[in-house]
Amino acid sequence: MSFPLVRNRRLRTSQAMRNLVRENTVTRHDLIYPIFVTHGTGIKEEISSMPGVYHFSIDTLEAEIREVTELGIQAVLLFGVPETKDAHGSSAYDPNGIVQEATRRIKEWNPELLVVADTCLCQFTDHGHCGVVHYNESKKRADVLNDESLALLVKTAVSQAEAGADIIAPSNMMDGFVYAIRQGLDEAGFDHVPIMSYSVKYASSFYGPFRDAAHSTPQFGDRKTYQMDPANGREAIREADADVAEGADMLMVKPAMAYMDIIRTLRDRYDLPIVAYNVSAEYSMVKAAALQGWIDEKSVVLETMVGFKRAGVDLIITYFAKDIVRWLNN
Ligand code: PBG
Repeated sequence: MSFPLVRNRRLRTSQAMRNLVRENTVTRHDLIYPIFVTHGTGIKEEISSMPGVYHFSIDTLEAEIREVTELGIQAVLLFGVPETKDAHGSSAYDPNGIVQEATRRIKEWNPELLVVADTCLCQFTDHGHCGVVHYNESKKRADVLNDESLALLVKTAVSQAEAGADIIAPSNMMDGFVYAIRQGLDEAGFDHVPIMSYSVKYASSFYGPFRDAAHSTPQFGDRKTYQMDPANGREAIREADADVAEGADMLMVKPAMAYMDIIRTLRDRYDLPIVAYNVSAEYSMVKAAALQGWIDEKSVVLETMVGFKRAGVDLIITYFAKDIVRWLNN
């Protein structure tokens, strides 16, 4: 045998050959499309830091849902931008809240489309934190109370399920939130509704454009007492272990691009479906460079998505979902 002994290039000689040995693919079935819904009528407003992503009022949402349906996307993730906010985020668990209303309408327009409800309080509280805030006089600081917040998250999840949400996705990072919500759903008769837990959610700078879009920037402090430190990897296992023990049906890693090692760790450790959230700044960075003509958007996005699959995810939440399906269809 002549040198080189190993010729890896043999399997790269043509597109057909490469297709034959491809290890990972992305399909429309892997994708969940996030949508921002708001009160009012006739609203379809582009989010300035997220070109191609909009706020929809319920009436303009119908056309968007039709488009998503025609593309063959099977699931949307709803974020509510409410009219009113208060200290306890009561518009999050109002039966006529924006997410509940949008969910009911979507299920009328297309009962087959899976509605995933983001269960959190930060868009609905006037202080912008994901739970109940208590000012601690002696320590001179505001604390986000864990167990008091759980009760409100349970109410939110149950009202979302009552409106027809198919999947509950709690993103608040309070301890015990999966167990509390599971119990609440079961008691309300929603034992068939799965929980997609934002298990491993980092206190990330990559949520910036989302917070503009959802008007959910904390008015004081940050989320570092409940979201994870980006420096920590082993802690992700403790978070995910807890969620599995508490009954989570799917585990999410968020953000995705800077956390591929965490995706792989979870993939190797759990048999549950793993979800990657390709978050707002990951979208905005690519969009910005593409709009400047500095990168080829399609190939960069598809490479990123197949990278998530290679890292071990089953599902990807991405603002690129509609674009991806269009590209895959061509
Ligand atoms: C709510 C929530 C956030 C995101 C999803 N759900 C913001 C945050 O935690 O501050 C971010 C999504 C994105 O950046 O695309 N807690």
